[in-house]
Amino acid sequence: MLSEASRPYITASVPVLREHGLAITTAFYRNMFIEFPEFKNLFNMGNQAQGLQQQSLASAVFAYAANIDNTEVLAPVISRIVHKHVSLGIVAEHYPIVGRHLLGAIKEILGDAATEPLIDAWAEAYGLLADALIATEKALYNQAELVPGSLTKFKVVNIKQESELVKSFELLPLNGEMLPTFKPGQYISVAVDFDDGSRQFRQYSLSDSPSKSYYRISVKREPAGVITPKGQVSNWLHQNILVGDTLQASHPFGDFNPEVEPDETILMVSGGIGITPMIATLNHLAETNPEQNVIFLHAANCKSQHSHVQDIEQALTVMPNLTVTTFYKDILVEDTNHGAVHQGELQIKNLKLLDVTKTKAFICGPDVFMKKVWVDLLDIGITERNLYREVFGPDLLGNLTK
Ligand SMILES: Cc1cc2nc3c(=O)[nH]c(=O)nc-3n(C[C@H](O)[C@H](O)[C@H](O)COP(=O)(O)OP(=O)(O)OC[C@H]3O[C@@H](n4cnc5c(N)ncnc54)[C@H](O)[C@@H]3O)c2cc1C
Ligand code: HEM
Repeated sequence: MLSEASRPYITASVPVLREHGLAITTAFYRNMFIEFPEFKNLFNMGNQAQGLQQQSLASAVFAYAANIDNTEVLAPVISRIVHKHVSLGIVAEHYPIVGRHLLGAIKEILGDAATEPLIDAWAEAYGLLADALIATEKALYNQAELVPGSLTKFKVVNIKQESELVKSFELLPLNGEMLPTFKPGQYISVAVDFDDGSRQFRQYSLSDSPSKSYYRISVKREPAGVITPKGQVSNWLHQNILVGDTLQASHPFGDFNPEVEPDETILMVSGGIGITPMIATLNHLAETNPEQNVIFLHAANCKSQHSHVQDIEQALTVMPNLTVTTFYKDILVEDTNHGAVHQGELQIKNLKLLDVTKTKAFICGPDVFMKKVWVDLLDIGITERNLYREVFGPDLLGNLTK
């Protein structure tokens, strides 16, 4: 527990961090990468370029300060961080390096305002947070019987073009060993080594049920925008990986796998590539409890960008209580089928639920989409306790840092 001496300094830091958090973490990463350039291979440099990871770390530190007396709200944040960390092989020895650079950055940005007692208080708070993360990460490594940082070599045994921008890759371990099982909704961190010697990890949700003999990932190729470059890893995978090639990836991790009770309605709401963890869950339910009540809502830009149509059609043949509604932003008249495909944005308000208290909602998609869906689901009476979401990037923790 944080000492009484440090508590007032941490509490007083809340407005300071609100103002300077991003500047602090930006300085932190800059300085740390100068001293440890090899860390660039661990961090997602796409997120760094967009400022997302800086914001995420700032938010985590700030959320910690803002909720120092209310630590249970931090539990989901910590859970998400530790799963991400272990999928990347983060270990206890890394923490003092990060701590030293974080405190150094606080001093650099706050200048004279960073008094010795304030820095001491933050050193103590960082130490407590680090200890909590290290202990949970160690437990996850032990549970999975993993040497931290070890990767599995996979052979790509099948590739399928799911839609205009998405390819599925089926992976089998190169050494012929059995695959560790996983929970639907979990991801693997795929490592790609580039010709210039750099390595980049990206997370990809496993997109088929755990009963399969292979792991399947489904990767959306991120095209270049008007001023933004094309996605580094997704385009590399699309352009370079052929059947028979090798890919390296982590053990499955991730905490987007809420318990499903047989008498509940599972409402899956996805946008774009956010469909992948839903398909893993849907395929799993189709095998384990085909009677489950499932409402599957999906938003895609257009028919040609609608992925995993075959998985959904297959699930519909075995799940009598599955209803599927799709929304295309751009739609041709001939693409509508029996009222199950609609034009425009995904709509929640007209949803007919048997019993809101027995409905769990799983959400995954672009940030703006998820924020809207979250509010709309609360509006129709689903309680926050029954809302679960997966973020395909660093979680910016907006709900904890207001
Ligand atoms: C838990 C989790 C599960 C995921 N599951 C899936 C999945 O199932 N399928 C899937 O396809 N993806 C998934 N993702 C997303 C995936 O990990 C990658 O983020 C995605 O493939 C993009 O990576 P990339 O290397 O192609 O793009 P990056 O190179 O990382 O770029 C990402 C974005 O940043 C922009 N950018 C890069 N550099 C700059 C710059 N200098 N200035 C401005 N903008 C810049 C790019 O234009 C692009 O839009 C998941 C992510 C997480 C965290
Ligand atoms: C108390 C200390 C730490 C805190 C509070 C923290 C917090 C975070 C947060 C909030 C994320 C984003 C999680 C998400 O995806 O939503 C993250 C990711 C990450 N962290 Fe940490 N972290 C800490 C220590 C470390 C250490 C010691 C390392 C080792 C170098 C590290 C490396 C990483 C990496 C590589 C990622 C993924 C980055 C990305 O994909 O962009 N972290 N951390």
